[in-house]
Amino acid sequence: MKRLCLLGIACLSLGNGTLSARQYVLNPKARMALNLDGKWNAIVDPYDTGYYNYRHQPFDSAPDPRGGFFEDRIPATKSDLVEYSFDHSPTLTVPKDWNSQDSRLQLYEGAVWYRRLFGFSPREGTRIFLHIGAANYESEVYLNSRKVGGHIGGFTPFDIELTGMVKPMGNSLVIRVDNRRHPEGVPTVNTDWWNYGGLTRDVYLFTTPATVLSRYTIGLKPGDPSRIEVSAELDGPQLSQKLAVEIPELHLAAAAQTDSRGHAILELQAPASLARWSPEHPARYEVRLTCASDAVAEKVGFRTIEVRGSDILLNGEPIFLRGICIHEENPIRGGRAYSREDSQLLLGWAKGLNCNYARLAHYPHNENMAEVADELGILLWEEIPVYWTISWENPDTLANARSQLDDLIVRDHNRASVIIWSMANETPVLDARTKFLRQLISDARSLDGTRLVSAAMEVRTAPDNPHRKIVDDPLGEFTDIQSFNEYVGWYDGTLESIPQVEWAIKYRKPVVISEFGADAVQGLHADNLTRFSEEYQAELYRKTIPMLRRIPELRGMTPWILCDFRSPRRLLPNVEDGWNRKGLIGENGVRKEAFSVLAAFYAGIRDQGFLLR
Ligand code: GCU
Repeated sequence: MKRLCLLGIACLSLGNGTLSARQYVLNPKARMALNLDGKWNAIVDPYDTGYYNYRHQPFDSAPDPRGGFFEDRIPATKSDLVEYSFDHSPTLTVPKDWNSQDSRLQLYEGAVWYRRLFGFSPREGTRIFLHIGAANYESEVYLNSRKVGGHIGGFTPFDIELTGMVKPMGNSLVIRVDNRRHPEGVPTVNTDWWNYGGLTRDVYLFTTPATVLSRYTIGLKPGDPSRIEVSAELDGPQLSQKLAVEIPELHLAAAAQTDSRGHAILELQAPASLARWSPEHPARYEVRLTCASDAVAEKVGFRTIEVRGSDILLNGEPIFLRGICIHEENPIRGGRAYSREDSQLLLGWAKGLNCNYARLAHYPHNENMAEVADELGILLWEEIPVYWTISWENPDTLANARSQLDDLIVRDHNRASVIIWSMANETPVLDARTKFLRQLISDARSLDGTRLVSAAMEVRTAPDNPHRKIVDDPLGEFTDIQSFNEYVGWYDGTLESIPQVEWAIKYRKPVVISEFGADAVQGLHADNLTRFSEEYQAELYRKTIPMLRRIPELRGMTPWILCDFRSPRRLLPNVEDGWNRKGLIGENGVRKEAFSVLAAFYAGIRDQGFLLR
């Protein structure tokens, strides 16, 4: 199977030389052949008993790999010694993090072995793949006691080919997932979010023909939006085929022959009747690609996004991004969000705030988010977890970050809602860091030149004036917009200091504030000087909005954050209790006072427009 690293990035290898698997085809769900979601037997293995022998050597890399839990053995006779049993082990639900399924696992960081038995008989001549939507953080996959692959990174999908390895009955699929944090990891050891472990998104088998339409990009032609451009790529033995594209609702069709590498680019004249995708009108069209061996269909919105001076233009018109930050968590049910319903809940709440935009922090969310955002008309900022103190000088860390970025862009590059790729959050201004992030920016631009690139940068205070806030991170020269997190009135000073802020922003580019906010316990009421009260949070919003509006280039914001979320760093008893309380909605789904402050501001902009100087 061809390694489809779009940028020829050295495919990431796991500790023991296994290459980290990648996503093989786009939209594999449309090819699902056997859904493996549901109850899996699971063994919690804090001492890696099922992985290492007593000499701490991995069982699966021995010349004759045996002894590890991947064998899924059952005693052959009463004298046979087998000290584990999946059949007699409790179950865990997939997709779902393990932390919110069993209170004993709430803080568990280590390995868990999942086992699923299945039978499957594919149609003659088809190829079989295992799709894993996400497994946090590192995973190894075994089929019928044989290692078939692995993956590093907890937030992006990967596929493993199983063609010729699957039996009609009695297949044992064993997946070891380890969510331990590592200094050289992405993310690294300290994050302000819960380290949910497990098979957190859908797992299923899908099949493809021998030659498959593995990649395609559909959108308005860069630089000439009067034309629709479709590029496609085949993978398999039959690379030279006639490829046809059809957009029935627009009565458009075209065809071309793929070249010897299986590539083809087709152009179609965009009719005047084509409705551009926008938050107000999230129009999408079914696009069908067919060739002799394969066929795919995708619902796509057509829009352009660009920067001109200090304006952000959507379909050529200046826009103000009325946004909110969102973590991938369903506070009501608890745990990682993963389903369409979770996306509809979270993005529905954002719509309730009069948002037309959201920042999906701080890692790639499940793909339902971008699909639902396409449907609802919410523009998106998507990000990879290069967060705080990453190991900038470590080449494996860079390869890891590059491959997560590649995976994210591969997965979501046909989503009209996605307008910004973000490389990092609150990283220190160091040469090694800036070099690291510039590599990611150049990757993003070569992978997808049609979207904006950014990073959530930091603010520094003038040594001689506590109210003078300076944004001059050298990385700002290389991003399309200036995004920074500011916490004046919460971590930096008090509410009184907010109106006194003067901004010194180095680069004349659109400014989109990536974070501001304050903690409040839903239902805690006091005067507006009392920290953690709803009144304090609301007052901070009331003061911050006019303060930010004084920035001439202000073109958007995503306050921190839509709803309270779990964090192991939040330990204040009877106030935080393991929750970051900066949500505008409490963990119980109840809105706080500040919710209506922001919603009113956004309604005003939506209805009267934002005075774009
Ligand atoms: C930071 C960070 C967030 C964090 C927030 C907070 O800026 O980016 O991940 O949760 O501030 O402190 O609440």
